[in-house]
Amino acid sequence: MATKGKFEPKTPVVLNPPKDDPITPEFLSRCNGIDSNLCYVAIKGKVFDVTGNKSYEKGGSYHVFAGHDASRALALTSTKPEDVRPDWEDLDDKEKQTLDDWMTFFSKRYNVVGLVTSPPSGSTPA
Ligand code: HEM
Repeated sequence: MATKGKFEPKTPVVLNPPKDDPITPEFLSRCNGIDSNLCYVAIKGKVFDVTGNKSYEKGGSYHVFAGHDASRALALTSTKPEDVRPDWEDLDDKEKQTLDDWMTFFSKRYNVVGLVTSPPSGSTPA
């Protein structure tokens, strides 16, 4: 329904106020549902808590995203491990729109638990 906006969940989801706690890439990488019970997926540096959704657990269709900033893969509608990267700025407008649509989708379903901190200096810029 147009009045309900895009990407509404089928059943209403009650969300906590978004947090802006710093989350290091190292911590994020452990929140993959295997090394930790936590399961996180980040988009454009915003970390969503997807814990409890089996799609992101080991064996799930979207496990490849767990513990990562998956911006590029989401923008490209790809589940290839090599696309699961945080960099998206060089993509075309259609891909950027796809990414923003995923941001909307996740924002309506999952709590934001923090923001990914910049990688240490000396590493390849995202
Ligand atoms: C054969 C191709 C695909 C099929 C049939 C498919 C099917 C589905 C279905 C049915 C859902 C909804 C599940 C639910 O309601 O819980 C879903 C969710 C999703 N799909 Fe796909 N998909 C496909 C490919 C992809 C690809 C290539 C991506 C890469 C970006 C992707 C990303 C996602 C994501 C992120 C969700 C949301 C999961 C969630 O948080 O609930 N899918 N897909």
